[in-house]
Amino acid sequence: MKILAIETSCDDTSVSVLETPSTVLSSIVSSQIDIHKEFGGVVPEIAARAHIKNMIPVLDEALNVANSKMDNIDIIATTKGPGLIGSLIVGVNTAKTLAYMYKKPLIAVHHTEGHIYANFLGKKPENQPQFPLVCLTASGGHTNIIYMKSHLDYEIVGDTEDDAAGEAFDKVAKMLGLGYPGGPIVSKLAQKGNPSAFNFPRVDLTKKPERNEEGFLVKAEESLDFSFSGLKTAVLREVKKLTTEGKALTEKQKNDICASFQEIATDILTRNLLRAVKKFEPKSVLLSGGVAANLLLREKIQLELKKIKCSASFFFPELEYCMDNAAMIGAVAYIRAQNNKFVTQGDLTPDPNLRLR
Ligand code: KG4
Ligand code: ZN
Repeated sequence: MKILAIETSCDDTSVSVLETPSTVLSSIVSSQIDIHKEFGGVVPEIAARAHIKNMIPVLDEALNVANSKMDNIDIIATTKGPGLIGSLIVGVNTAKTLAYMYKKPLIAVHHTEGHIYANFLGKKPENQPQFPLVCLTASGGHTNIIYMKSHLDYEIVGDTEDDAAGEAFDKVAKMLGLGYPGGPIVSKLAQKGNPSAFNFPRVDLTKKPERNEEGFLVKAEESLDFSFSGLKTAVLREVKKLTTEGKALTEKQKNDICASFQEIATDILTRNLLRAVKKFEPKSVLLSGGVAANLLLREKIQLELKKIKCSASFFFPELEYCMDNAAMIGAVAYIRAQNNKFVTQGDLTPDPNLRLR
């Protein structure tokens, strides 16, 4: 069985051909970073137009590298949402047109489930994550902790109240004039900085203990939700303080801000994931999304799991599968096909606010 998968939810045009999550025949990603970086972030209208321009060359390359033709593709899959509407429309309409022309069945995928299943890519079935699992998925658009008892069964147990983790990295980079996307630049400068130089807030949404109806103090359950806006504002306040009277930030100050911010952002992500691990006692712990590329975050999670003598295996995707890519959409499509979850042409409409269920 060959699946052709398409992903265009944000600023990467990607097409992949795969047989199973273990056997990826091609994974082509055309990044638009060079176009958007001069604006300091993704410009939706420009992204949509660039997808239209890139789609056919990326599709041709994915088929060529996989040594395949449309005639021997069995299933076509695409990201239905969430994402930028103009970007989603390009992927969805390409998938629908190909399915109509070549008479192929269609599968619709949620972008976040793609990120979770990136952890299954390129691994033999016996080395893939086991259920139940807990996954921290963090990117520029979302930050979630998801509990899964079995394939395609998602329970969102942690969400962000405001910014996504990747978005916070991007905004800090912007404040420091470092360019876009922020994650890779902030983590690079952080290597040269002092992580204790600035004491930014470690926001915890756990409520204070409350009295129940009988007047007894009830221990509050630790929150699995995130908030990054307080941390981001604290960085902004520090930058303003250091740049009064037209002063420019020194390299050392920039490195120290990056290191202190990264230290706290990764602490918050690790803390909540560990709370979920203690609560759900999963067989596998997964990290995914663009922020999963952060080496300090990977190290901290590994260390904390070891500290609590957790027997679960820890997974994170290959670097190329942390960022947006179509192979992860194909991995979900493989499981959906096994469960007969196909969609009709009429059902497949782009949904920028699609919920995971
Ligand atoms: O998954 P992704 O490619 O796109 C979205 O779905 O958003 O993630 C991109 C996000 C950006 O916010 C970027 O700054 C962040 O992932 N990112 C990182 C790192 N590499 C990318 N954040 C922290 N550390 C990194 N090394
Ligand atoms: Zn993504």
